[in-house]
Amino acid sequence: MDEQIIEKVVIEHRDSLGGILSILTEIQSKFGYLPQDALRQVAKKTDSSLTDIYAVATFYKAFSLKPRGKHLVSVCLGTACHVRGAPKIADEFSRQLGIKSGETTRDKEFSFETVNCLGACALGPTVVVDNHYFSHVTTAKVQHIIEQARKGFQQSDPRTDHRIFKIQVNCPVCNHTLMDNEHEIDGAASIKLAASSSGKKGTIRLSSLYGSSSTDSDGDFPKGNVISIFCPYCREELPSELICPECGANMAMMTAGKYATFHICSRYGCLGHMLDITSQTQDSLKEMKG
Ligand code: FES
Repeated sequence: MDEQIIEKVVIEHRDSLGGILSILTEIQSKFGYLPQDALRQVAKKTDSSLTDIYAVATFYKAFSLKPRGKHLVSVCLGTACHVRGAPKIADEFSRQLGIKSGETTRDKEFSFETVNCLGACALGPTVVVDNHYFSHVTTAKVQHIIEQARKGFQQSDPRTDHRIFKIQVNCPVCNHTLMDNEHEIDGAASIKLAASSSGKKGTIRLSSLYGSSSTDSDGDFPKGNVISIFCPYCREELPSELICPECGANMAMMTAGKYATFHICSRYGCLGHMLDITSQTQDSLKEMKG
């Protein structure tokens, strides 16, 4: 383990709002998992106990203490997906990949896991492969999904790809549309947001294709830092009562139609996002405003 790499990551993120979480997120993105040696060095360099570092590393599902395969398949077994047949889909992935949940194939191509909720309950059964969402999955689609992952999703055309779908979002405070037709990402209008972090301000744009993680920004925000996200029109911070299931940071909320809300993680670079179709948007807003 290269001590200098870890030292650089620690120095870069030690004083950020995310602290240890930002450090571990960066290490995981560099190595694909959290090597034991790296955790020991983080403990030493941040004057923390190894137990504390392990507690964080094992609490969040986004972190892995074991090397993962090239592709990560996550099958949701949360209640909404469960009642729509998710256990059969998990069994089919397990059978076709030849591994159980928590394992990696011998050729290191695939890791497979079952999770409790992927934030798209109304579209279940839901499966995520390499951060690409598949909705209404059936056992008949499993083979195709595995083949797609092997080929590489970057070869698909997002405009004609049915595994992801377009969303339209508005500011929950002033109700102004956040869609930017002038600036396309993935061949569709992007979602435009204002952001700031440690005195730096900028615009961030997200893909409006749910499940795509394409983004664009003119702000120089360090990856792993928690940023404040605002409506670019009324300048109000976007409120959310949810915590990112990937990294534990606060999320920012937008409305997506009358009865749905779209939440994104406020940690720059984190892929956590969720579409909550079951929530009553107006009720949640009233509660949040007290
Ligand atoms: S229960 Fe499966 S996405 Fe929520």
